[in-house]
Amino acid sequence: MSNVARSSTPATSFRTAVSAGVQTENPPVSLAPVAAVPEVPDYLQDVYYWAYINPRNVKLLDREFVVRTILWQQHRKLQNSAFVEIEAGQRVLQSACVYGSFSANLAEHIGPGGTLDVFDVAEIQVVNTRRKLAAYPNATVHYGNVLEMDLEPFDTVCCYFLLHELPDTYKREAVNLFLSKVVPGGKVVFVDYHKPRWWHPLKPITSLVFDTLEPFAKGLWRNEIKDLADQPEKFTWRKEPRFGDLFQKVVATRID
Ligand SMILES: C[S@@+](CC[C@H](N)C(=O)[O-])C[C@H]1O[C@@H](n2cnc3c(N)ncnc32)[C@H](O)[C@@H]1O
Repeated sequence: MSNVARSSTPATSFRTAVSAGVQTENPPVSLAPVAAVPEVPDYLQDVYYWAYINPRNVKLLDREFVVRTILWQQHRKLQNSAFVEIEAGQRVLQSACVYGSFSANLAEHIGPGGTLDVFDVAEIQVVNTRRKLAAYPNATVHYGNVLEMDLEPFDTVCCYFLLHELPDTYKREAVNLFLSKVVPGGKVVFVDYHKPRWWHPLKPITSLVFDTLEPFAKGLWRNEIKDLADQPEKFTWRKEPRFGDLFQKVVATRID
C-alpha cells in the first residue's frame, strides 16, 4: 500500500498535520484522501534512524559526494552498471530512495517515454526525493513500504544498496517480491555489497563498519542473492563482482 503523489504534489504537509494530530479545518480541496501513514519498520527506526530519518543528518548526507565517499569512489561506475541494464522508455521501479542524484539520473536515463516509480517508507526521504524529481513528471515517489507495494509488474526493478540494510528474512522477502514484479523478459537489477576477497585492503574497515553500524550487511557476505529466491529456475542469473568483490551486480532476467 502506498500514498501516491506525483513528485511535484505537496501532499505530505497535510498528511503530516493529520498524522501529528494537528487540526486542519480547511484542508486543500485538491488533495485526494490518503491511505494510512506507513509504519516505519523496526530495523529502520532502531538501526538507521541516524542515517535516513534524523532531519539534521538527512540534510548533511543527501549529497552526491557523500554517496561517492561511502562507496569508495565506485558509485558512478556502480550506478552506470545498473543503468546499462535499463532501456529508455521502460517502466522502472526503484526500490527505495538513494542519496544524491541517483533518482534524477535514472529518470533522465529512462527519458520522457518511460516511467519511474520510487518507494520509500520514511516520509523525509519521500519529501526530499519528490523535490529532487520535481522536473520529471514521469516520476512518482510513493510513500510506503516497498515490501507491501501492489503495483503492476515492471520492465525493470532496480534495487540499489537496499538489500544489505534489511534483516535476512526481509532480504528474502524483498528478493522474491521484486522477482514477482517483473514482466516476462524483464530484469531485476541488484547492486549491493558482496564479500571482498581475503586480500582486499578495505576488507577490515568494511567489516568494522558493518559490525558497528550495519548489522545486517554481512548477510550478503554469507548468502548469494540468487539463493534467496524461492523459484530461481524461473530466471536467468548473471552475477558480476566489482572492485575486488567488495560490490556486486546481480541481474535476474525473467524467462517467461
Ligand atoms: C536504498 S537504501 C540505501 C541507499 C544508499 N546507501 C544511499 O546512498 O542512499 C536507503 C533507503 O531505503 C529506505 N527503506 C528501507 N527499508 C524500506 C522499505 N521496506 N520500504 C521502503 N523504503 C525503505 C530508507 O528509508 C532509506 O531512505
